[in-house]
Amino acid sequence: MPDLATKYLGLTLKNPLVVAASPLSEKKETLKRLEDAGAAAVVLFSLFAEQIELAELGHQDYYKSHPNALPPELQQVANMRGLKFGANQYLAHIFQLKKALDIPVIASLNGYYGSGWIHYARILEGAGADALELNVYYVETKPHINAQEIEHMYLEMVRHIKQEIKIPVAIKISPYFSAMANMAQALDKAGADGLVLFNRFYQPDFDIEHENIIPSLDLSTPAELRLRLRWTAMLYKQIQADIAVTGGVHTAVDVVKSIMAGAAVVQMASALLKNGVDHLSTVKNDLEAWLEAHDYASINELRGKLSLQLIGDSATLERANYINVLKSYES
Ligand SMILES: Cc1cc2nc3c(=O)[nH]c(=O)nc-3n(C[C@H](O)[C@H](O)[C@H](O)COP(=O)(O)O)c2cc1C
Repeated sequence: MPDLATKYLGLTLKNPLVVAASPLSEKKETLKRLEDAGAAAVVLFSLFAEQIELAELGHQDYYKSHPNALPPELQQVANMRGLKFGANQYLAHIFQLKKALDIPVIASLNGYYGSGWIHYARILEGAGADALELNVYYVETKPHINAQEIEHMYLEMVRHIKQEIKIPVAIKISPYFSAMANMAQALDKAGADGLVLFNRFYQPDFDIEHENIIPSLDLSTPAELRLRLRWTAMLYKQIQADIAVTGGVHTAVDVVKSIMAGAAVVQMASALLKNGVDHLSTVKNDLEAWLEAHDYASINELRGKLSLQLIGDSATLERANYINVLKSYES
């Protein structure tokens, strides 16, 4: 049987299949089933900075019944489904999961500017989280804020959180940086133990009949993996932080591709939400079968085989690839 063991954020995992932050982690029973199906670790659904701040104000219940007392952005927070797991329940959830599961539990904090909520990382550590994933889901719309300011905000958050806690910290980012490789390196230097590539930005849709903008969340397709493969292949060995691929990992073939690009682990949400918990054991069995059929004794032998470091041909990942792709189209 091939050896699937891998290291991620200093944790030794039995295989590279991690459950991504999603509602899959709301129930202990679901996670127990995922663990039995072979999941090697779980990232919990996020706790939002806004939730922490509201909880600290101590007015959560008041705002639920008096939503108009809040500005529109915060009204949504007070009503959001996640609030059934307010900041305190989130801590209790970690504590309970640590008792019920053998696999590592990675807490997820979702925030941006401001530091009032960052000390909460220490409380999550205290509740038993094995690591922390920091998700910066941030869309800057003010024209006077420039890229440098945004990048500075990301780096300050990583530095700040690293000072707060001893458990490893991964940062989940979007691909929308002008100089992605430079930013990845800066996050690495700021102390991030892992980079999670990439956040999916959910684009709201337009309802033309009612003339309003509606939130929409579609599950991913494997086509989304390619962006992650490219950047993982570019960054592998150029940074010390481990890379987790999230977005479009649906099958064992997607896992093999991600590891060949240089990922330490993959994180899956859509495929499990769509196909059910048992899909994880299918992916794991298929992964083992693939490695056996291709004479690999371990996934470590596979890691980075198609990375820029190993193929040494940046052209296939950069601009020349674009030119070739356009030329290769035959009508
Ligand atoms: C319903 C749903 C809820 C999610 N909630 C979170 C969340 O709370 N925090 C987070 O960082 N990512 C969240 N995600 C993003 C996933 O963790 C994952 O990164 C993304 O869906 C891409 O992986 P996939 O292609 O396997 O779905 C959510 C995704 C879905 C589909």
